[in-house]
Amino acid sequence: MSVIDDILAEKDFEKIRKETETNYKEYLNPFALRMFKNAGLDVIEGRREGACVWDISGEKYIDCVTGAGIFNAGRHNREITDALKKALDVYDMGGWISIIRERGLLAKKLAEITPGNLKYSLFCCGGGEAVEVAIKLARGHTRKKEIICMENGYHGVTGFSLPATGREVYKKPFAPLTPGYIHVPFNNLDAVKSAITKDTAAVLLEPVQGEGGIRPAGDSYLAGLRQLCTENEILLIFDEVQTGFGRTGKMFCAEHSGVTPDIMVLAKSMSGGIYPISCAVFTEEISDFLYANPFIIINSFGGTSLACLTALAAIEYIEKNDLPARAEKMGKRFMGGLLKLKNKFPELVVDVRGKGLMLGIEFPEDSIGPRMACLLKKNGVISIYTFNNPKIIRIMPSLVISEEEVDFVIDAFDKSLKEIRIQEAGHK
Ligand SMILES: Cc1ncc(COP(=O)(O)O)c(C=O)c1O
Repeated sequence: MSVIDDILAEKDFEKIRKETETNYKEYLNPFALRMFKNAGLDVIEGRREGACVWDISGEKYIDCVTGAGIFNAGRHNREITDALKKALDVYDMGGWISIIRERGLLAKKLAEITPGNLKYSLFCCGGGEAVEVAIKLARGHTRKKEIICMENGYHGVTGFSLPATGREVYKKPFAPLTPGYIHVPFNNLDAVKSAITKDTAAVLLEPVQGEGGIRPAGDSYLAGLRQLCTENEILLIFDEVQTGFGRTGKMFCAEHSGVTPDIMVLAKSMSGGIYPISCAVFTEEISDFLYANPFIIINSFGGTSLACLTALAAIEYIEKNDLPARAEKMGKRFMGGLLKLKNKFPELVVDVRGKGLMLGIEFPEDSIGPRMACLLKKNGVISIYTFNNPKIIRIMPSLVISEEEVDFVIDAFDKSLKEIRIQEAGHK
């Protein structure tokens, strides 16, 4: 028996729970463990399938977190895992200092499916790294420095991406950060106009703010940004790390408004949650910078043979099953149910909003988000509040979710809101 056989053969879930909690406390991060428990996220993931995840004890939940959009094609998607298994039979990751056929094939596919004239791809592993590539490209191409970003935006926590994230709590302990990032209110074109200087390189935003509380950018705002950027020779960067690959009801969220950015950042569901990969896709016009600087991203593990083949299989799955259309259909069903809950619990539900299966439900105060997540778990649903805004619970299930599962989640919200109403009455 190998170490992996031993690990997978263990069936005593009390033993597994104890061992895992001890390892978190002793060797990983006891404070993260405490936070998971307080937020109703203390499920130790065992089986994963479709829209569901099972705790190691066998308790089944509908996963409305999906790692903030990693599992659009469903948990542990068999077609995508089989693709990786086949790839592993033939290849290792591939050397980064060599020419990789699979990388070219994936870049070509991305050029075909991304909107407008987005064409070239540079690959890395995580979303934050891909944001860094986008910022390097913008500064390199324009030879200007300033990046206008959005208050409450989230772009990761790595070197060039952390300063773009629009919440002080993530940044303060690590100052000084890379300078040149200016934050303005989201969905406010005048604020961007006022922030532009002769040194502005790019405007960076999420077309739907995820961690900022599921806030969609308005179509006319995006059109205004496009015009402003073009007139001032500034690049427009869309971070589609959460919104990409069908989540909002289109393959990419940019398609709703018809506005094409100069650079699009992709990660999370790009390879179905089976193997890490991310990228920045950009237009030919800005590729000139690569002529003198072909290695602006040197990344041993970015865009490996295995990652690219897995991503090609994930994209094939999303297209074959028309997951964007499914996200739109199930999103409408969700929205109908959530609006009924807003009418039923007007003192507790301030707003419901979102696009496709990227939905948020807003409560009147911060403490209700974490309490709701704990109650939802009791009622069979895994959920989490948005990081920059705990008043809002996100609903981001796999796009393969069925009608019955959508109704189950709505029912779980109904039951949980009833309990919150009782708790609130008790406090008065
Ligand atoms: C919009 C957005 N951009 C970037 C990132 C960073 O991605 P990663 O955690 O893979 O670095 C995230 C992560 O949640 C994200 O939501």
